[in-house]
Amino acid sequence: MKPIQLFDPASGTYTYLLFDETSREALIIDPVDEQLERDLAELRTYGLKLLWTVETHAHADHITSAGQLAEYAGAMTAAPEGSGISTAAVQLKDGDTLPFGREAIKALLTPGHTAGSMCYLWRDHVFTGDTLLINGCGRTDFQSGSAEALYRSITQVLFALPDATTVWPGHDYQGRTHTTIGTEKAGNARIAGKSLAEFTAIMDALHLPRPARIDEAVPANLSSGIRHDAGGGALLEARPAAGYAGDVSPQLAYRWWRSGEAVLIDVRTDAEREWVGFIPDAVPLAWKQWPGMAANAAFDAGLRTAVPSGKKAVLLCRSGVRSIAAAKRATELGLEAYNILEGFEGDPDERAQRGRKGGWRYHGLPWRQG
Ligand SMILES: [Fe+2]
Repeated sequence: MKPIQLFDPASGTYTYLLFDETSREALIIDPVDEQLERDLAELRTYGLKLLWTVETHAHADHITSAGQLAEYAGAMTAAPEGSGISTAAVQLKDGDTLPFGREAIKALLTPGHTAGSMCYLWRDHVFTGDTLLINGCGRTDFQSGSAEALYRSITQVLFALPDATTVWPGHDYQGRTHTTIGTEKAGNARIAGKSLAEFTAIMDALHLPRPARIDEAVPANLSSGIRHDAGGGALLEARPAAGYAGDVSPQLAYRWWRSGEAVLIDVRTDAEREWVGFIPDAVPLAWKQWPGMAANAAFDAGLRTAVPSGKKAVLLCRSGVRSIAAAKRATELGLEAYNILEGFEGDPDERAQRGRKGGWRYHGLPWRQG
């Protein structure tokens, strides 16, 4: 069994897709944002359920698609604890494992290229990021790099693996795809047979140019590639709106609600909650009521009771239309009120069916049938 190796030509980055053949559960290492569509297509082609996105480090040369894969494929994000990627759901420590089906990868802490860099071991394969490259290694002159630490990581952690272990690097700029621990131990131009002093002298003499995208890429990667100044930013930030505090994604509403910052108000009719599904612990408070969709005279009083002062109100309807009207009314009543974009079911698709184009349910947030 081999990993699927994918390549981003613009940055020379390799992305790896691993999966369990029985359960079809999958894990992706170092995904690139420009390749999001390709990677989603790969998942569809192989019939995979993406469980994890994993970073080897906070990259300086490309932006990760981890945040977007969490959004579109329902993956959990994982990153080395020391990499400063605070948005990653799992902060990996040395020796931690991430399971997918009956398979798992194991994190090996290998500081040097950056202080938090990790390599990942899967069966007899190791994914080395920028720690060990084919006949080379990552640079150590920025981003908390250290030639001394890298020397120790390569010689004591990676070269301690069996010689036959296949090495899958984070980059190659000459079209080479993989190597082995034995090959690199014997012939890597930078480190094979070199003392620490010799290796440090080689690294000090490199004088490489600054990566073109470092100022953009590193800050973006520290938040899983979700850029607050770009389209993807809507996911984790409220968007101001006229007449109420703003629009929020179902995921952000869920986060605010679970952390106690906000009260979640379901403004759909009682009938909709019963037929379509409801969110346990959300406050049921119809904006209009079936039959006839007459305005609910008890709405204002219900809202005042439900939302204590100092808390936000996040309002949910079927697809984000009634909840705007309700959010405007809540604002008139003095509340900090937000509309949840996409609502419970999302917009109808081309066959007029809901539930496939966004919404609370689509994003895998908790709900139940009555
Ligand atoms: Fe790097």
